[in-house]
Amino acid sequence: MEDLIVLKTTELLNQRLRQNNKNSSVALVPTMGALHKGHLELVKKAVALADEVVVSIFVNPIQFNKKEDFENYPRTLDNDISILKKLGNNIIVFAPKYSEIYPDNYNHINLEIDHLENVMEGKFRPGHFQGVVNVVKRLLDIVKPKYSFFGFKDYQQLSIIKFMVNYYNLKTEIVACETYREQSGLAFSSRNRKLSDKEKSDATVIYQTMILLQILSKRFNPIKANSVARQFFNKSPLKLEYLSIIHPETLEEIDCWVPGARCCIAAYSGQVRLIDNMELIPLAKISEK
Ligand code: PAJ
Repeated sequence: MEDLIVLKTTELLNQRLRQNNKNSSVALVPTMGALHKGHLELVKKAVALADEVVVSIFVNPIQFNKKEDFENYPRTLDNDISILKKLGNNIIVFAPKYSEIYPDNYNHINLEIDHLENVMEGKFRPGHFQGVVNVVKRLLDIVKPKYSFFGFKDYQQLSIIKFMVNYYNLKTEIVACETYREQSGLAFSSRNRKLSDKEKSDATVIYQTMILLQILSKRFNPIKANSVARQFFNKSPLKLEYLSIIHPETLEEIDCWVPGARCCIAAYSGQVRLIDNMELIPLAKISEK
């Protein structure tokens, strides 16, 4: 088997991708590394769909609103590379330095996404999504992938990236992947490795609350369902930052149910901030004839 290729500069990556014949397809899976099974599901899907898969590993400083959060973010590049080696021989790891992504002449973009940005993650992490938009746009410009892979796990991020791709008319097909969970229901996350055993088991209340909300959605309106779910959640040791029941497109909180309505939760288990979300009302399936 060909050895996994690890490239650290944009120039080498471009050279490598230019070697491909014109009909071969490239997929991009952007990550910040510390790879877990959730990431690997995205990579496996990309490997199945495209001829060549670029997995980027870059801890993007400008999307962290706290310096210590950036500094403490787990970095496990050697381990990430050895995991990816087992997933296929058409994977390229792109692990750039800061100056490759943001060279001196780089012009930061500031996308007007107030309506999507001023709620939930954006509200509690000011500037976070502008950081995400910059790095993802830059990666898409460098790789120019036919497909780009993102997780529903970060639902607001996914919505904003879709908006950005439309806004700049970028030629990539976004493939959104379901959230991959541990048996307990806890979503895989790079941050889980910072949890103690107790904090990890306490954190399953997030999943339990979302399942409870699915049941409550059949009996109550979103406002009442939200308040009952909070009472349940607040019996746990986790500190709730927000629990929002939102419209799937506008991300605004809703007071009556709509297809695709989702609940989104952010909470601290100990010092570790976790987020998750789940669809509560199935999206209506419409078939065209
Ligand atoms: P990161 O947290 O490393 O996540 C990379 C991708 O994996 C994201 O699209 C995320 O939604 C997806 N993902 C994370 N946990 C998942 C799980 N349990 N199941 C399925 N998919 C999951 O999100 C980022 O990095 C960054 O913001 C990035 C987009 C790379 C920009 O820096």
